[in-house]
Amino acid sequence: MLYMVALAAGIVLVGILLVHRQVRRNGRWALWWHDRVDENIRDFLTRISRPERILAYVKKHAVPGDAESVANAIDAYCSGVEWAMNIGIDKGKILDRVVSETDPDTVLELGTYCGYSTVRIGKLLRPEARLITIEMNPDYAKVAKQIIALAGLDSKVEILVGSSSELIPQLKKKLDIKTLDLVFIDHWKECYLPDTRCLEESGLLHKGTVLLADNVVCPGAPEYVKYIRNSSRYRSEYFSSRLEYLQVEDGLEKSVFLG
Ligand SMILES: C[S@@+](CC[C@H](N)C(=O)[O-])C[C@H]1O[C@@H](n2cnc3c(N)ncnc32)[C@H](O)[C@@H]1O
Repeated sequence: MLYMVALAAGIVLVGILLVHRQVRRNGRWALWWHDRVDENIRDFLTRISRPERILAYVKKHAVPGDAESVANAIDAYCSGVEWAMNIGIDKGKILDRVVSETDPDTVLELGTYCGYSTVRIGKLLRPEARLITIEMNPDYAKVAKQIIALAGLDSKVEILVGSSSELIPQLKKKLDIKTLDLVFIDHWKECYLPDTRCLEESGLLHKGTVLLADNVVCPGAPEYVKYIRNSSRYRSEYFSSRLEYLQVEDGLEKSVFLG
C-alpha cells in the first residue's frame, strides 16, 4: 500500500516537473499555463480579475501623473507576481524606439488590454499628438481608462470600446482622422491581416505610415507575416526579442507602407 502511494506521489511529482519545464521553455505551454490555469486560480481566490489586480497594484505603487512609474509598476507586478499579456519590458523598448523614430501625430493601437502599451506610447508623444486605442472588452477598457488617467495621459488618449473590424471603417468620419502615422497591432492574431486590409481600404495609410505588429512569433500571426513580407506595398523588418516577462522567443514586425 505504502509502495503504491509513493509511486503515485512520484508520478505526480515528475508530471509537475515536466509541466514546469515546458512552461519555462515553450511559448504555447507558457501561454496555456498563465492564461488558462494560473489566471483562473487567482480569479477564483481573489474574486477579482487579473486587470483589476494589476490596477490595484498600480494604485498602490505608482506615482499619479508619472507615466514611467505607472509602466514600471505594471512591469514589477507582471514580472514578480503574475504574468499578463502586456508587450512587456524587452519588446516595450523596441516599441519605444519605433515611436520615437516615427514621431507620429496620429497613432492607432489595436488591443488596449490594461493600457500598458498605451502608456508607453503616450508618454513619448508630443503634446498635440493623438493616440486612439481600440479594445473590445468593456471590462478591460474600464481598467485601462483608470490606468491611463493615473499616468496623466487621458487628454492625449481616446479609448474606443468595440471590435476593430467595426471601428476602423468609422475612424475617418467619427474621429475626423485623415491618415495614421503609426499603427500598433496587438489584438487577436487572426485579426492582424483582415484589419490591415481594412486600414488600406479605408484610406487610413499614407506613404510612410508605420505598422508595428507584436507577437509575430509567439503565439504568431503567420498569415499577416506572409502578406506583409511579400507585398510590394510594404518594406518590412523583423525585430527579435522575448515574449513578455518570459524567456521564450518572440518579436515585432515593423512594416513601412510605401503607398
Ligand atoms: C495582447 S492584449 C493587448 C496588450 C496591450 N497592447 C499591451 O501591450 O499592454 C490584446 C487585447 O486585444 C483585445 N482584442 C482582441 N481582438 C480585438 C478586436 N478584434 N477588436 C478590439 N480589441 C480586440 C483583447 O480583448 C485584449 O485585451
